[in-house]
Amino acid sequence: MTDTDTILSAHTREEIDSWLARYPVDKKKSALLAALRAAQHQNKGYLTTELMDAVAAYLDLAPIEVYEVASFYSMYELQPVARHNIAVCTNVCCMLMGSDTIVSHLENKLGIKLGESTPDGRIYLKVEEECLAACAGGPMMQVNHKYYTDLTPEKVDEIIDSLE
Ligand code: FES
Repeated sequence: MTDTDTILSAHTREEIDSWLARYPVDKKKSALLAALRAAQHQNKGYLTTELMDAVAAYLDLAPIEVYEVASFYSMYELQPVARHNIAVCTNVCCMLMGSDTIVSHLENKLGIKLGESTPDGRIYLKVEEECLAACAGGPMMQVNHKYYTDLTPEKVDEIIDSLE
């Protein structure tokens, strides 16, 4: 068993293998986004250098190739965060539909600012997102990467209160 096998869980390696099977053997990098998602999921929602290095080794990539991707895409977290990840879109369509009200409501309700987690480790209020391609349903937010559209403060309360 290699270090990579102990750092990446069996479930994570299975997930990566299922993606690798979809690409030519010399194009392992194609599975990188999915591999990072699986590694992040294994580690309570964030990536460590050790995990990124293990993904690099598993996909025969240089670590820098993995760091570049992990630090570019907003769906990856590189610091510990609370277990529910909430991201409000504040790009122009959602802004015109009232996303500022949704952000303020969340900050007041949770007692934290964007970029912070609640002290009980329950909710992470991600820094504002750019367009999440659901403009027709603005204002909108992602909760654990699932989309919620046509938000009102009341609807936000229902969603937040249903989270464990
Ligand atoms: S502007 Fe919010 S989803 Fe496009």
